[in-house]
Order: sequence, then C-alpha cells, then structure tokens
Amino acid sequence: MAFTVAIDGPAAAGKGTIARAVAAHFGFSHLDTGLLYRAVGMATLDAARGVIDENMAVTMAKTLSETDLARDDLRSARAGQAASKVAAIPEVRSALLKFQQDFARREGGAVLDGRDIGTVICPNAEVKLFVTASDAVRAQRRFAELSATNPALTVAQVAGDLAQRDARDAERAIAPLQPADDAELLDTSTLSIAAAIQSAIATVQKRLK
Ligand code: C5P
Repeated sequence: MAFTVAIDGPAAAGKGTIARAVAAHFGFSHLDTGLLYRAVGMATLDAARGVIDENMAVTMAKTLSETDLARDDLRSARAGQAASKVAAIPEVRSALLKFQQDFARREGGAVLDGRDIGTVICPNAEVKLFVTASDAVRAQRRFAELSATNPALTVAQVAGDLAQRDARDAERAIAPLQPADDAELLDTSTLSIAAAIQSAIATVQKRLK
C-alpha cells in the first residue's frame, strides 16, 4: 500500500518531531527533505571554497551520495543558511524531485517533511499538514537544540537566523513555503509535543479508515 503524509512548515515549527512520531506510530518510512538541501548546501560550500556557486550546487544535487547525507554538521545554522540558498535554485530542486517522489510512493506508507511536499512534490498526498508556531516559540525551540553544542549562542541570533531563512523560503520564485489549499493547519505554539503528535496522528488515522 502506498500512502503519503506530507508535512510542511517553517523552520523549527515542530514538523520534524511530528513527522518522526507519525512514521513510528504507523510503521511508515520517514524522509526529512530538509536534510537533502542541507547536504547539497554543505557539499557546495566545501567544493566551492565557502561560497554558494550555482553550477556547483546543481552538480552536487545531481550526484548527492549517502556520505554527503551522513555528515554530522548538517543540523548547524551554517548548513541551514546554505540549504535555503541552494533551495532557491530551480535545477537543484528538480534534481531532487524524483528521489522524493519515489520515496513518497514506496510500499508501506511514507511521511515526508519539508516546505513544498504538499504543494509540489506530492500534490496528491493522502494527508497534508502545515505545521506552524509563533516566531518567538520557534526561536526558543531551536535555541534549546543548538545551545547545547554552542554555549555562546543567543536567542536573538537564532531568531535572526530563522527570520532570514523564512523570508528566503517564502519569497523565492520556485516552490515557495506556503500551505497547500487542502492542507490542515496545525499551530503548535501552545501545544506540548505529545499533544501536537496526538493531533497529527488523529488526522492520519481519520484518512486511513
Ligand atoms: O527543514 P530544514 O530547516 O532542515 O530545511 C533547511 C532548508 O532547506 C530550508 O530553509 C529550505 O530552504 C530548504 N528546504 C526546501 N524544501 C524542502 C525542505 C527544505 O526548500 N522540502
């Protein structure tokens, strides 16, 4: 059985946590599509001496390997910024399209989280969720994640980084961050992790019946 759950939303809204939990609950496979763009971004910075060179980014997207995806610095703010720059290049997005679409239709069900899953990658997904949270809550959450390994970090720095990335993602010409018309909105600002997960599971359960 193929069954696709598309989860989109801005950075640090909780979509990764929700996607992982939904996948585990139903025994579906999970793909964090942001990781693909982060890997392309970091591979490009390495190959092009610290700059996002467009041609290099396209080459990296076309030749993305398991090793690129396994590096341990993909969760950093630098990788997030690099990702949102390469993600605005149409040829980078098209090079990653088939892999994501094949993943979405694999046997046994799949959950994909990202920015354009419900709008571009899987417009026919059985379930579409758009996960949001206030700017302040998202900054606090990402700060809690990153400050463990970077004690000098401030909440204001994290908030600035998220705002810059959100603007780039929402304003780009191709596959901008926006809810699909038929997506269910899930605002996690005042929800506990457990409550947010429960709500997403209930939505999927309804559609499975
Ligand atoms: O979700 P995450 O923060 O890891 O995504 C990193 C960046 O990758 C985003 O800011 C966005 O620019 C890009 N992205 C995208 N489309 C996706 C997933 C991520 O453009 N489906």
